[in-house]
Amino acid sequence: MPTILISGANRGIGLELARQFSGDGWTVLGTSRDVSAATELAALPNTTVLPLEATDPEAIAALVKSLDGRPVDVVIANAGIAINLEAKPVEVTRADFLKVVRTNTFAPLALVAALKPNLLAGERKVALAMSSLMSSIGANTWATQYTYRASKTGLNAVMTALTLEWKPLGIACGLIRPGMVATQMTNYNGIPVQTSVAGLKTVVENFTTADAGRIIGYDGTDVPW
Ligand SMILES: NC(=O)c1ccc[n+]([C@@H]2O[C@H](COP(=O)([O-])OP(=O)(O)OC[C@H]3O[C@@H](n4cnc5c(N)ncnc54)[C@H](OP(=O)(O)O)[C@@H]3O)[C@@H](O)[C@H]2O)c1
Repeated sequence: MPTILISGANRGIGLELARQFSGDGWTVLGTSRDVSAATELAALPNTTVLPLEATDPEAIAALVKSLDGRPVDVVIANAGIAINLEAKPVEVTRADFLKVVRTNTFAPLALVAALKPNLLAGERKVALAMSSLMSSIGANTWATQYTYRASKTGLNAVMTALTLEWKPLGIACGLIRPGMVATQMTNYNGIPVQTSVAGLKTVVENFTTADAGRIIGYDGTDVPW
């Protein structure tokens, strides 16, 4: 069965992705900042918990080293944060802004880029990052969420550049959108995480280089740019 690596897999959407893929027989490599606390993840079948502070390049390098060239079929850079979403423009701090961009934009690119040898060794060769409707400039009709929007629009930009660079290598890079999901990030408002992830799983399983340039929702619909 294929191997999938999911960052931020100790809770929320990442944990449910790990649960549904492992339940389907896939080998799951799930990352967590605190491995000892990731008990739900560790209890899943065919699942290994790996340590990762996603914003730390040394931690990413250590993760890749620990894989020792092991093939990875699918990577989902899922770990992400949202801070003070309702902040007015003058309330947006540089510290918050940089922290969110470091986590939501830099970290996914750094992780996926570092895993290139593992992806090339895998059969499916799929590298995805977790985008959001908030990434869309075209669909932004209600303002707010300055830091989060910037981080996810930036994520779209870097993943699109990577898509173009890696397509000749046969690696399918792309962006997926979970919908508004009831997790800690949304104070548990939104659709059930099981529903979102069931849809995302279908999108991930069918993702090919032909989907490059799309931001595909859990329901199969495209997020406008
Ligand atoms: N929920 C939604 O409605 C929604 C909508 C659109 C997009 N998304 C995106 O979907 C992804 C997952 O969101 P979620 O709702 O599952 O959020 P969540 O419940 O808050 O979980 C976030 C996960 O990311 C991890 N994480 C955060 N910062 C990290 C870092 N610096 N290094 C390593 N891990 C880190 C967290 O680990 P800790 O437990 O250690 O904090 C946790 O595992 C995010 O990228 C989010 O932006 C969510």
